[in-house]
Amino acid sequence: MDQFEFTKIAGSVLCALLLIFGTKTIIEMNVGHSHEKPGFELPAPAPAEGAAPAEGAAEAAPVDKDETPEVLALLPKANADNGKAIFKKCQGCHVSEKGKAPTVGPNLWDVVNRPKASFPGFNYSAAMKAKGGDWSFEELAHFLHKPKTYIPGTKMVFSGLPTPNDEADVIAYLATLADTPVPLPK
Ligand code: HEC
Repeated sequence: MDQFEFTKIAGSVLCALLLIFGTKTIIEMNVGHSHEKPGFELPAPAPAEGAAPAEGAAEAAPVDKDETPEVLALLPKANADNGKAIFKKCQGCHVSEKGKAPTVGPNLWDVVNRPKASFPGFNYSAAMKAKGGDWSFEELAHFLHKPKTYIPGTKMVFSGLPTPNDEADVIAYLATLADTPVPLPK
């Protein structure tokens, strides 16, 4: 074996090794990434010694819990300005200026505490007319959470506001739409 041939063989051996280890490294890198997991798990906060268990911790959360108590609890500190911004979602169907003719939905000026289905000249669904009662904060919270669940057969095609915070803020804004704004609960 002359010097030249030896160099050739050594070269190809090196090449083969590089290929083997290179490929192995690349495979390992990919496998490593696809199995990525957080390196640690956050421990559940342990309740303080002797402390009462967190409210509702004992029972499992129902699939569609009634959010109304939460909305009412948020009302005293609700943000009507934020509610006004969220109200843009409603404006596709509702006007809210005093004296304006209704559009797709009834005019919402002065809606808080007004009897349901009572805006003059608006053609309400039979379901809405049959519901009865006034638009109290509580009734608004029930309705705006999931209109079609609360009043099956309503003409209001709106899936509902996503969070109790949004609901409270919108209701606080509705309360301002009156000559004498309806005071929020303290
Ligand atoms: C796609 C159109 C549409 C959207 C969006 C919509 N509404 Fe309505 N809304 C209606 C219609 C139509 C009615 C009448 C329902 C009926 O007669 O069953 C209604 C009724 C109501 C009523 C009852 C009023 C009354 O006079 O009895 C309230 C309160 C109300 N909507 C609030 C809201 C709020 C707040 C939003 C936004 C978060 C909203 N709506 C979004 C169409 C809409």
